[in-house]
Amino acid sequence: MKKLLITGASGFLGWHICQLAKKEWEVYGTYFSHALEIPDVKMLKVNLTEFVELKDIFNKINPTAVIHTAALSQPNFCQNHPEESYKINVTASCNIAGLCADYKIPCAFTSTDLVFNGLNAPYKETDTVCPVNIYGEQKVQAELGMLARYPHTAVCRMPLMFGTGTPTANSFMQPFIETLKAGKELNLFIDEFRTPASGTTAAKGLLLALEKVQGLIHLGGKERISRYDFGQLLVEVFQISDAKIKGCYQKDVKMAAPRPADVSLNSSKAFALGYKPLSIKEELAALVNRL
Ligand SMILES: NC(=O)c1ccc[n+]([C@@H]2O[C@H](COP(=O)([O-])OP(=O)(O)OC[C@H]3O[C@@H](n4cnc5c(N)ncnc54)[C@H](OP(=O)(O)O)[C@@H]3O)[C@@H](O)[C@H]2O)c1
Repeated sequence: MKKLLITGASGFLGWHICQLAKKEWEVYGTYFSHALEIPDVKMLKVNLTEFVELKDIFNKINPTAVIHTAALSQPNFCQNHPEESYKINVTASCNIAGLCADYKIPCAFTSTDLVFNGLNAPYKETDTVCPVNIYGEQKVQAELGMLARYPHTAVCRMPLMFGTGTPTANSFMQPFIETLKAGKELNLFIDEFRTPASGTTAAKGLLLALEKVQGLIHLGGKERISRYDFGQLLVEVFQISDAKIKGCYQKDVKMAAPRPADVSLNSSKAFALGYKPLSIKEELAALVNRL
């Protein structure tokens, strides 16, 4: 059976990819600090920033393909810890591309919509990158470094993702729901726009890209929406009574990492290949009773 190595299987997206991929692949998933078991997936603890450890898992598994999702993925953390985050976000990513080149196997990488500055959305693959924070800069460096080492890499720019909490990771949705159900006020940006997709949809897109894409591809959701409107849909679909959502502006909230206003992705290239996100309302409806 074909062997798929998924880095970051203890993360939100990696876990979702494991759930889908194990139907067709013998799946090997990595974790670092959050040990977990996933039925029918072989889990390995590895620090991907240690090249010897990374090389060792390639030797042991001899994978047929790799999906690299592991990262320090919080922009505020990266802004405050640029050197630590560079090691996993850039150096390890380039090393993984190099190993995939050596093994001559497909490689898909999870980049981000935050490679853009948010002033000219919706963004196509041909648009110029211009990140406004260190996390975005690191992803740009990883994209360039990986493609230089291995031009066959599928560099997938992921949107904001939401979905079922996993044993070791949540999406941004879970704290929203907790706050609202506790009757507390939730402040959401009315001037920040994204094209969100569920973890399951994004995982489907990555598996498709692994098979069909070399170079850049945008895997955004079907619709552009503000954080505030996303919250309103969440309340409607999850039928949260007496929810207190208040609109606010990006400028009202000080954070370590600057935030672009609108990094909505134009994903028509992926749609033409068969990537089919549902509307956000439909995606949310599929999650009721599964959080
Ligand atoms: N979530 C989003 O909305 C979003 C949007 C755009 C792009 N992305 C990108 O999509 C990918 C997945 O995001 P996510 O939200 O699933 O991330 P996540 O939940 O933060 O998971 C990150 C994963 O990386 C692993 N990791 C971190 N440092 C490591 C190291 N030194 N060695 C080995 N593994 C390490 C973590 O392992 P442990 O937890 O076991 O330490 C975890 O499995 C990332 O590349 C992220 O940048 C995410």
